[in-house]
Amino acid sequence: MQASVIANKDYTISEIDDRVYGAFLEHLGRAIYEGIYEPEHPTADANGMRGDVIELVKRLNVPFVRYPGGNFVSAYNWEDGIGPRDQRPVRLDLAWHTSESNAVGIHEFADWCATVGTDMMLAVNLGSRGVDEARNFLEYCNHPGGSYWSDLRIKNGRKDPWNVKLWCLGNEMDGPWQVGHKDAHEYGKLAANTARAMRMFDKSLELVACGSSNSDMVTYPDWERIVLEHTFEHIDHISLHMYFRNYEKNTANYLALSEKLDRYIDTIAATIRYVQSKKKSRHKVFISFDEWNVWYHSNQQDRAIRDGHQGWPHAPALLEDIYNFEDVLMVGLALNTFIRRSDVVKIACIAQLVNVIAPIMTERGGPAWAQTIYYPYYYASIHGRGTALQLQVKSPGYESVHADHTPYLDIAGVHNEATGIVTFFLINRHSVETIRTEVALQGFTQGTILEHKVMTHSNLEAVNTATSQQEVAPRDGKGAALTEGTLTIELPPYSYQMVRVKV
Ligand code: AHR
Repeated sequence: MQASVIANKDYTISEIDDRVYGAFLEHLGRAIYEGIYEPEHPTADANGMRGDVIELVKRLNVPFVRYPGGNFVSAYNWEDGIGPRDQRPVRLDLAWHTSESNAVGIHEFADWCATVGTDMMLAVNLGSRGVDEARNFLEYCNHPGGSYWSDLRIKNGRKDPWNVKLWCLGNEMDGPWQVGHKDAHEYGKLAANTARAMRMFDKSLELVACGSSNSDMVTYPDWERIVLEHTFEHIDHISLHMYFRNYEKNTANYLALSEKLDRYIDTIAATIRYVQSKKKSRHKVFISFDEWNVWYHSNQQDRAIRDGHQGWPHAPALLEDIYNFEDVLMVGLALNTFIRRSDVVKIACIAQLVNVIAPIMTERGGPAWAQTIYYPYYYASIHGRGTALQLQVKSPGYESVHADHTPYLDIAGVHNEATGIVTFFLINRHSVETIRTEVALQGFTQGTILEHKVMTHSNLEAVNTATSQQEVAPRDGKGAALTEGTLTIELPPYSYQMVRVKV
């Protein structure tokens, strides 16, 4: 099978916002407890944070982490997580039917972010609470001192404000599963009022209103239109979420979900333009895709806890998807889509980061390791920074439930002018055919191949575990050639590849 691509230096989509490689950590399952925080662990630092996890996160160069939820935030009192640890209350977490010790709160999370070298994106509770909680939390985090909440922060050990710029106005408020779920008008009005109050404190905040929890919601895409009509001038981003599932064990349909993702982004980009035109506004609103990942492997085993059959356990194993090789392809496809839609998607978060639907897994008292999906996320985050190229792609394709034509070859290209490197991320969706791909490099001076990585496996269901951590891992690719401005690569069936060319 043959595919051809033209990559012209002058045909670009957009600068990629580094923040499309963000991540998410929620007080859910073992994400915080046993994930990042485990004071008894042999690698724990003075703050009780696992050193092995810190190392794995640092390697990813995560630009920011969204916190503390997720569904959790919709009934969270952030004040429960401040002050002396032994005086913090244990609360019931209604979202996940668990108990929350509050041993980790904003101070501990902020310190952990500083250690791994990442910024914070914080969410305020617009489920059970509202404007008041949001303005107080903001003052606690960002005011230098001399007011009730900022002085309390100082008393609790943090002199300088954290100056958090990125804030989510609630989470998935369209979802009936959410504590304090609202209809689009109720939520839109509350989000606008909260945004107004937050902006009275600091005009430069970047605010994110809730869009749909997924594009199958009955309220989609009217939800976005209505929420945007209420909030347009007061926000900077509308948030979208999507999880990829392969219950039917149909790989062709599964790998076509990135086409559905692309359409979802396209629809909301059009909705933003519609509301902007209706309001005769020049204000710009972008998309914050602040939850995305594969999530389905663990659904069955989680049912007992979520249905309340195990009481209110603290930090039980929940949403612990063990990712396989097939998921590497899906995660690579999602990341390629964000690169190609970097004109409208300025923020995105892989959900989540540790243990809970995450690229990193830990065992209590034991090792931490990279799941299969760690690698495509790693390559995109490290090498996918720069300008997205508008590639011209010709590839045979197939019909799936999500699109009439899903190309077998999926490719994204990034030109980093500062380093003089062009990086291509390629996925072959075909089960048996190798795709010989020719990429014509136009407008670039003659180059050399710097690095070529391949991920492939004879078993789509192969996984990494504590005892077999490298079963699915990248290896050096062979046979890529660059002659007279044409890059030639052979893509084996079901493979993920990254090629970096110095130009
Ligand atoms: O990431 C897991 C959950 O998925 C989040 O809590 C929620 O926002 C979404 O439904």
